[in-house]
Amino acid sequence: MTYEEARAKMAAIGQEHVFKYYDGLSEEGKKNLIRQVEETDFSVLKRLENSAGEKRGVFSPLAAMRIDEIETRSKEFHNAGVKVIKEGRTAALLLAGGMGTRLAFDEPKGMYDIGITKPLYIFERIFENLLCVVRETDTWIRLFIMTSEKNHEATVRFLKEKDFFGYREDRVVFFKQNMAPACDFEGKLFLEAKDRISTSPNGNGGWYSSMCRAGLDRMLADEGVEWINVFAVDNVLQRILDPCFVGATVLEDVSVGAKVVRKATPDEKVGVLCLEDDRPSIVEYFELSDAMMNEKDESGEPAYNYGVILNYLFRLSELPSVADDKLPVHIVKKQIPYIDENGNEIKPEEPNGWKFEQLVVDMIHQLSSCLPYEVEREKEFAPIKNLKGIDSVESARELLKKNNIEL
Ligand code: UTP
Repeated sequence: MTYEEARAKMAAIGQEHVFKYYDGLSEEGKKNLIRQVEETDFSVLKRLENSAGEKRGVFSPLAAMRIDEIETRSKEFHNAGVKVIKEGRTAALLLAGGMGTRLAFDEPKGMYDIGITKPLYIFERIFENLLCVVRETDTWIRLFIMTSEKNHEATVRFLKEKDFFGYREDRVVFFKQNMAPACDFEGKLFLEAKDRISTSPNGNGGWYSSMCRAGLDRMLADEGVEWINVFAVDNVLQRILDPCFVGATVLEDVSVGAKVVRKATPDEKVGVLCLEDDRPSIVEYFELSDAMMNEKDESGEPAYNYGVILNYLFRLSELPSVADDKLPVHIVKKQIPYIDENGNEIKPEEPNGWKFEQLVVDMIHQLSSCLPYEVEREKEFAPIKNLKGIDSVESARELLKKNNIEL
């Protein structure tokens, strides 16, 4: 793309101001800016004009497979899961492209040390958990790690330095997720440097398209992988590809298995798995009406009672139909660092603009069936979003101690 073409592209969407510092840039800087204009998809900005939100369908309950049922059938599930893993039909994907802004830690979130008497990194907990399955099944599972342009180098350097915490490096594949532009409340793009438009990772729902862009869908097919366990970086207790979960999902023959935990209170702020227009979906806590909150199932339990914890086992053959353009784009208020009129770098203390994200929860609604698979909250759910309080370093440490994990 030439400078004139780049200018015309931005003029057409009313964003020519991104060239404000162009004349003073080095040749390298000029090239960088033009390349970014060429490569970035700015169509998400249009969503601001029509941001009334997607209209939701009709919700109804979706029964979860509860712990007691799982226990009764545990042998059957476990054997089926071990078989599928041993046959190399499963892979794992760690979503580590997020910015972790709530934790206010400058490095990638996985590098956060939650140890007390010794170092214990978030990434280390994940590798420890995956290694349990490797030992149990005697199979080195293919692990994909999604990073973003913002944290890729730091993540790779750290994990190499730590020898992948005992994991086999040749079984790990990194890829970078796509980026989306960020703008102020009036829709004007921010510059994060004189030669760079502000961008941020495009949300965890972009994982499949980002994997395909990196050519990894072919790798999965070549290796005969049929199921992929997608999970968040910040739950330090979660189990990954645990054979029972794999076996239950495969035997139930669904498009996706989703780990869920029983809600602590009816109004807990978690998304609940249910049906929406007869397809699996997640209803957010603020969308639950009083009637839905009070509805009971036949055993007298709340009908909308199982919250998702961002740990899903997707059947790969169904994913090509879950195209990016079908997923809603969420417009999220965030603190976005930028350079002002005078070229000063500003780090806002309060949200100052919009970011655009697609979310993995929205993929569930594109699929035809889903198994909500209950896990014990105290044993498998210790997310770290904040430093203190709910879902924090503090609360995760308490849970790790309860599970006899040395800190
Ligand atoms: P969160 O929703 O907690 O977002 O991500 P975040 O960006 O990490 O944190 P905050 O909101 O800024 O504090 C849940 C999971 O999805 C991944 C995160 O790395 C985490 O594992 N994620 C999120 C991505 O991989 N890419 C994204 O663009 C966003």
